[in-house]
Amino acid sequence: MTRTAIITGGMSGLGAASAIRLAEDGVEVIRFDLAAGADVVVDVSDAAAVDTAVARVGGADILLNCAGIVGPNMPLWEVDGAAWDRVFAVNVRGTFNLCHAVVPGMRERGWGRIVNFASIAGKEGNPNLAAYSASKGAVIAMTKSLGKELATSGVIVTAVAPAVIETPMNADNTPEVLQYMTNLIPMKRLGRAEEVAELVAWLASDRVSFSTGAIYDISGGRATY
Ligand SMILES: NC(=O)c1ccc[n+]([C@@H]2O[C@H](COP(=O)([O-])OP(=O)(O)OC[C@H]3O[C@@H](n4cnc5c(N)ncnc54)[C@H](O)[C@@H]3O)[C@@H](O)[C@H]2O)c1
Repeated sequence: MTRTAIITGGMSGLGAASAIRLAEDGVEVIRFDLAAGADVVVDVSDAAAVDTAVARVGGADILLNCAGIVGPNMPLWEVDGAAWDRVFAVNVRGTFNLCHAVVPGMRERGWGRIVNFASIAGKEGNPNLAAYSASKGAVIAMTKSLGKELATSGVIVTAVAPAVIETPMNADNTPEVLQYMTNLIPMKRLGRAEEVAELVAWLASDRVSFSTGAIYDISGGRATY
């Protein structure tokens, strides 16, 4: 039986790498993204559009919530409220919208895997990234709650918490900022999208069976919890 996966943000970076890796495992991938060329062009923050899109593709066995934005890069007191709200609309409400639309079908079928994309920023709180860090903290807590709610249903919910990975999301960072972030990583290098995709492929499979509501570190040793 071929499994299907909805991958939000599947047109770039970690979502694109995960799409390639899941396809290698024989999963049929459906990429939800704002970007042209996606299988379904949809804004994850738009609940009605998400509901329509999920119904149209008939739900999914696997959901990867990769779509995300960084938002304002400045001290909290300089952050515009609308920019703060947009980060939460995409990163938190978007993750909620997809889970909300997909979980009923997974429960009915008695099998599902949801992998949310958090960040080490959600554990540590990166300076000048208060909105992003707070939104990823919310994704971590949402994952723990939903994992417990679905614990006996056959649906497993986890999150990954990467440190900085070489993707288009980090393309605008200056060499100094990248050096600063690399110095925080005991392995002294940035992560690669394929390394995250490998962990995600495991979390999206039958190979994970006694773990839910858990946050998986992929930070080259940076995380201390
Ligand atoms: N790259 C990193 O260093 C890193 C580290 C930790 C966590 N993450 C998280 O991993 C996820 C993927 O990051 P990435 O580096 O691949 O980013 P990316 O910028 O390369 O890709 C993000 C994708 O999401 C899509 N997207 C953005 N807003 C959307 C919306 N409203 N609706 C639908 N699609 C939307 C974009 O079009 C893009 O294709 C994000 O949630 C990010 O916060 C990334």
